[in-house]
Amino acid sequence: MVLVTGASRGIGKVIAIELAKCGASVAINYNSNKRLAKITLKSVRSYGVNAEIIKANVSEEKEVKYLIREAEKKLGPIDLLVTNAGVLHLPKDALDLNYKIWKKIMSTNVDGTLLPIKEVIPGMIKRKFGRIVCISSIAGLGKRPNMIAYATSKASVIALARNLAEAVAPYIRINTVAPGLIETDMAKEFSKEAKKNIILNTPLKRLGTSEDIANTVIYLLSEQSSFITGQTLIVDGGKVVLP
Ligand SMILES: NC(=O)c1ccc[n+]([C@@H]2O[C@H](COP(=O)([O-])OP(=O)(O)OC[C@H]3O[C@@H](n4cnc5c(N)ncnc54)[C@H](OP(=O)(O)O)[C@@H]3O)[C@@H](O)[C@H]2O)c1
Repeated sequence: MVLVTGASRGIGKVIAIELAKCGASVAINYNSNKRLAKITLKSVRSYGVNAEIIKANVSEEKEVKYLIREAEKKLGPIDLLVTNAGVLHLPKDALDLNYKIWKKIMSTNVDGTLLPIKEVIPGMIKRKFGRIVCISSIAGLGKRPNMIAYATSKASVIALARNLAEAVAPYIRINTVAPGLIETDMAKEFSKEAKKNIILNTPLKRLGTSEDIANTVIYLLSEQSSFITGQTLIVDGGKVVLP
């Protein structure tokens, strides 16, 4: 069974659907959008797999414990985990280091990655099998003066997965995907002008799709990637290779 956090919409929704196409039972986590989570659930179940929606704020330890318990009670042991839930905020000014916003971004993106991982690891070790993929961002690799909190959170996700990889080996593999800009609700934070600029500076001359990310996640969860752990796979149309 696979648990995908933040799967009511955007990238998480498409990851859940693509995994269902592969025959996986899917636990669909959401935070506030029950209506959209139900739409994801309908699509996922249309592929004939077992699935449930479970509300939990991934930045709250109690809620994450409930999420894992409910998911396993309803669908069986979690063998695969995708930590995808995340938030972005673009301040008008780089020096607008609003602490309330910082805490929200760090708790959702970093604690929200650690907490589900922490809860599933004991079971995975016991069963001698586990695959974890964390969604980071290319913002966590380079320099992003216009989104310092978000970039710091996504760099932390990469560091977390890299540093955990040895401790959870050999039965558990953990990797990170670092997407470029993907057309979802989150991308609405960027102006048309900014998007045009990004496309111009992307060798493959387009923005990414949620399917681009889902395909990479499935690869990292599958045995096609059986000798890969602790790595970050960049999915950005080649953008980071440009200065
Ligand atoms: N879109 C991009 O350009 C892009 C690029 C690089 C990386 N990423 C990363 O990819 C991931 C998905 O992004 P997206 O573009 O699909 O974002 P999105 O369209 O804004 O969707 C965010 C998802 O995360 C969930 N979520 C937010 N806070 C949560 C919390 N505290 N607890 C549980 N779920 C929570 C939302 O649930 P509700 O609907 O219930 O609120 C929603 O399902 C994020 O980690 C993001 O940082 C995105």
